[in-house]
Amino acid sequence: MKKISRIAMLAAAGLFSANLMAAPIVVKFSHVVADKTPKGQAALKFKELAEKKLPGKVEVQVFPNSQLFGDGKEMEALLLGDVQFIAPSLSKFDRYTKKIAVFDLPFLFQDIDAVDRFQSSKEGQKLLTSMESKGIIGLAYWHNGMKQLSANKDILMPESVKGLKFRIQASDVLEAQFKALGSSPQKMAFAEVYQGLQTGVVDGQENTWSNIYSKKFHEVQKTILESNHGIIDYMVVTNAGWWKKLPADVQKGLREAMAEATKYGNDLANSINEADKKKIVADNKAKIVKLNKEQLAAWQKAMAPVWKKFEPGIGADLIKAAQAANK
Ligand code: LMR
Repeated sequence: MKKISRIAMLAAAGLFSANLMAAPIVVKFSHVVADKTPKGQAALKFKELAEKKLPGKVEVQVFPNSQLFGDGKEMEALLLGDVQFIAPSLSKFDRYTKKIAVFDLPFLFQDIDAVDRFQSSKEGQKLLTSMESKGIIGLAYWHNGMKQLSANKDILMPESVKGLKFRIQASDVLEAQFKALGSSPQKMAFAEVYQGLQTGVVDGQENTWSNIYSKKFHEVQKTILESNHGIIDYMVVTNAGWWKKLPADVQKGLREAMAEATKYGNDLANSINEADKKKIVADNKAKIVKLNKEQLAAWQKAMAPVWKKFEPGIGADLIKAAQAANK
């Protein structure tokens, strides 16, 4: 009897310590921007919340600044299981679905609030699961902000960018947008943009205030046109196979952490971009040029042909639903 209870006690203790020592699930989250950007802040918040909700069960490792994987490699890494979360800009899903290209249509959304309304709509939510057959599940949309156009010379009207080389993200819509302006678009990973601008491989680029400031693009550009001609927003995606195999409590905790981190980051996005715009002004390296109504209309007209070209792939209904989000 004594012996049996001793064995039982040892077995229980063994189980207890094995449980205590069970290694947490390591969740790698890789992205390409700086920590002090809307995406960088949301990713760190996700880590904090996930580890708080699932103590000892998950360890979230965040890799900013293309440290682990840059553009071009991160989606492949996700599908191979080398990383569990990434949050590419919505311009970088071309190879997986034509529908998400709706977000790249120039001058479609009047501001990030309109983008938010569309993303929260039935049509916007449907896009999150549109790549499941490719092994990718979207868990949330994260905001950055409106894009501004910059170049290493004075620019104002659409004619002023004719013949200039612009760095673009890997998006066919953005390629068509610059071709419509008579410029020459070059797809380039985000990590290479600063050097590309500095050495003159490209003359200009389009990005948000927070990306321009955190990567110092304004230091190697002459003009930033306050064009607000498009958006940079993100979809946080995970590997469908990995996600579906997670224990139910872990999946639930990660989903909750994601929802809270999304709210946190999205609430911060506008203020980070506004603050970074002020810092760019204070740095006094690139000149910021505002557009009046007529100038803005000229840019809208010059970029308009892009819409027709991509409507068949995106779908007229989806474009309509996105437009309906404007006020
Ligand atoms: C870019 O490549 O310009 C952006 O998508 C980077 C980012 O993730 O904001």
